[in-house]
Amino acid sequence: MLDYINSDLILSDSADVEGEVAWRSPSNIALIKYWGKYGVQLPCNPSISFTLENAFTETLVQYELKSKPDKGIALDFFFEGELNEAFGSRVQKYLEQLLPIFPFLDQLSLKINSANSFPHSAGIASSASSMSALALCLCTIEDNLFDTLSDDTAFSQKASYVARLGSGSASRSIYSTMAVWGECEGIANSSDLFAVEHSDVHSVFKNFQDDILIVSTGEKAVSSRAGHALMNDNPYATPRFQQAKNRIAALLQTLQAGDLEEFGQIVENEALTLHALMMSSQPSYLLMQPNSLQIIERVRAFRAATKHPVYFTLDAGPNVHLLYPEDIIHEIRPFVEEELLPFCENSTYIPDFVGEGPEEL
Ligand code: PMV
Repeated sequence: MLDYINSDLILSDSADVEGEVAWRSPSNIALIKYWGKYGVQLPCNPSISFTLENAFTETLVQYELKSKPDKGIALDFFFEGELNEAFGSRVQKYLEQLLPIFPFLDQLSLKINSANSFPHSAGIASSASSMSALALCLCTIEDNLFDTLSDDTAFSQKASYVARLGSGSASRSIYSTMAVWGECEGIANSSDLFAVEHSDVHSVFKNFQDDILIVSTGEKAVSSRAGHALMNDNPYATPRFQQAKNRIAALLQTLQAGDLEEFGQIVENEALTLHALMMSSQPSYLLMQPNSLQIIERVRAFRAATKHPVYFTLDAGPNVHLLYPEDIIHEIRPFVEEELLPFCENSTYIPDFVGEGPEEL
């Protein structure tokens, strides 16, 4: 069942409709992970993430009234300047699913141009940035045509809801600093349907660094979609969902207090739990690689030796996100470059940090 169904959002045949909208939207890194879903892309547990700044997608949507009315989505999809049929057919299916929410979409001819700030093959999930950028464009088109979303909260909620239908984690990319997706005690208005901004955090986290260490750019053996599905039969699923609920409550307090040690314990354990869930699925699988473990071991040894508050987390893949406060960047960067880059593909990493969220271009 979809919410936001609105059959009034239909253009009159005589309307003179033509325009373009563009948004830049960032990726995000989850601290408490969404892993396992039910219904129409609803999370089995709440999740919380840092919004990033440097890893983003820019999407331009040009639209005009179809010359001849017909049913269906009329779309040309360009990725990094080139017509891309594989991505185009995925976006086409997504837009078809959204027709009850945006019924005017089948009255328009659409041309979409999308590009990422990071190499497509960097092995970084681009679904959060790309689906959120597209969702923001669709909400702006609705507002331009029908003047329905002038309230900022209403706009963000709908954009987050629509982004969620494309990729669950994309629902969190709509907001500055941090976002919570999923019903969560202590977070006002939190919902499984859309994410909400979370800014009640200690100043140390507002410019936290995230160096994304690219261990491998290869395609993952098991997609996130398949990984979520395997949670349905995972023997640890029920206690895991409860654990995530408890952990997010503890992390929220830690974020407010600025307790870095406690933050690191929760975040690292959570990353390893995500991968333990993959290892305990039926069939089991591994997305970490030997070099991911080499990096994890070195981060822990460096922390023990220097007492610097530097911690790791992982997405559903082999790359390692190194999290630390901005004021120790000059101590951490030499360590990254000398001790960690040898374990990265082509010595690649993407220096990123907590960002301000999407921007209309
Ligand atoms: O949004 P999806 O379906 O690609 O799932 C993302 C899952 C994780 O990145 C592993 C965790 C998260 O909460 O982002």
